[in-house]
Amino acid sequence: MIRRDFLKSIGAISAGAAIGMPAAGAILPSPLVLPDDADSLNDLDMGMRSLRPRVDRQISVVIIGAGNRGNTYARFAQKFPDEVKIVGVSDILEHRRTRMSDAHGVPEEHRFGDWSEVFKVPKFADAVVISTPDDLHFAPCMKALAMGYDVLLEKPVAQTEKECKAIREQAKKYDRIVAVCHVLRYAPYFIALKHLVKTGAVGELVSIQHMEPIQFAHMAHSYVRGNWRDSKQTTPIILAKSCHDLDIIRWLIDSPCKSIVADGSLHLFRPENAPEGAPLKCTDGCPHEQNCPYSAIDIYTRKKWHIGVFDLNGNRDPDFIMQRLLTPPYDSYARCVYHCDNDQPDHYVAEMVFEGGQTAAFSMEAFAPQGGRRTRIMGTAGYIEGDGAKFTLWDFRTLKPKVWNRKVNEIPEYKGSGHGGGDHALVRDWIEAVAAHDNNLLSSNIDVSIESHVMGFAAERSRKTGRKEKM
Ligand SMILES: NC(=O)c1ccc[n+]([C@@H]2O[C@H](COP(=O)([O-])OP(=O)(O)OC[C@H]3O[C@@H](n4cnc5c(N)ncnc54)[C@H](O)[C@@H]3O)[C@@H](O)[C@H]2O)c1
Repeated sequence: MIRRDFLKSIGAISAGAAIGMPAAGAILPSPLVLPDDADSLNDLDMGMRSLRPRVDRQISVVIIGAGNRGNTYARFAQKFPDEVKIVGVSDILEHRRTRMSDAHGVPEEHRFGDWSEVFKVPKFADAVVISTPDDLHFAPCMKALAMGYDVLLEKPVAQTEKECKAIREQAKKYDRIVAVCHVLRYAPYFIALKHLVKTGAVGELVSIQHMEPIQFAHMAHSYVRGNWRDSKQTTPIILAKSCHDLDIIRWLIDSPCKSIVADGSLHLFRPENAPEGAPLKCTDGCPHEQNCPYSAIDIYTRKKWHIGVFDLNGNRDPDFIMQRLLTPPYDSYARCVYHCDNDQPDHYVAEMVFEGGQTAAFSMEAFAPQGGRRTRIMGTAGYIEGDGAKFTLWDFRTLKPKVWNRKVNEIPEYKGSGHGGGDHALVRDWIEAVAAHDNNLLSSNIDVSIESHVMGFAAERSRKTGRKEKM
């Protein structure tokens, strides 16, 4: 079976329409028969393939937003220059625009500031990557589609349900490809999970528990001090952070969501919780700095976490990072976590019921030592438990644990591809889809992606009103 047929058979790529659930009373897939003596699932060829796109022509791409994510996708072009070329760059920050443009030999006339400038010149590439902040997805995406570009669109798709649906309609109207960066679907770990569920390794799937630990410092960096701190400027955290997770749950369960009820709040990062005498910034001589787990000085200059936002050009000297922390605009990251203009919840739970009767319990937690994902899958004949890198399958008949733990990042082609390999696997599929003008080559086409976004908007309504939302 060629890989595309294999992926279609497990629903890892769409078969044109949204993935449907089996009709009531349909015969369950026969259980996957694993060799009794095998205690490893690694040898099953699940989800691993070359990242090199199979295309018969080079694809040309414009990157809009040359920040963290834009660079992730641009690195792919450096890896596979025969398959994809960056021919235009847009970023309002001159140094980011220049660095990416120079690295890819982008001509002067195709170096743009604001995204809108890209569309003032006639179409000059096959596709655009939209990796601007959340509030700048909708307008550039609508414009790009109208001008005949295919799009790789960062998540969340847009800030409202109405805008999400408008993008879907625009893609259909202009017959264009829009891949949403739900990168987890492309990670070998999740493809392997999906394969086992789809082939009946746990019998009939009944319920899922899925947890997204954000990690305490990541929470402080992104959702208290950083770019996603304000749900109105960006999107509620259930979309900004967890749309991946709703998407994965929906994908594994393979049935439309019927209802969702959510709760959660901002417990800690509020002014009334500031310790006595804490100044507005950690760098203003805070008496608690040495003891505070959220100290900006500790997180950035000592631990050197999340320092990509400081445009350090490889300089990791603590004094240099400290200088950045004292200098606008970077000094916003020096703010005391109790004195920020943030409103995103730091704990969030959602319960979902699906058309087939399956249930899912999701929980997003800021107060955890590590990030990643933890998933438990309960089926009528088996159980899977995983931590985002490794999972174990128990078949109730044998109770012999079988483990999947492929070291994806040790495979040379996958090195540097974040999200468990998903980042670059997504780009590969998108490039193949653009080259062949075939939406079916994508796991996360626009219809499917919007379904999980609609679940996120419903969850947020439920959290705010206390009511269960019917889908
Ligand atoms: N798929 C994922 O797993 C994932 C992970 C992180 C972030 N994201 C999403 O990716 C997007 C980008 O996030 P990021 O971490 O790369 O942010 P970033 O701040 O590092 O990059 C955004 C870039 O857009 C530029 N920009 C801002 N306004 C612009 C404008 N008007 N025109 C052109 N460029 C403009 C900024 O200068 C910046 O360089 C966000 O929507 C975010 O939610 C997705």
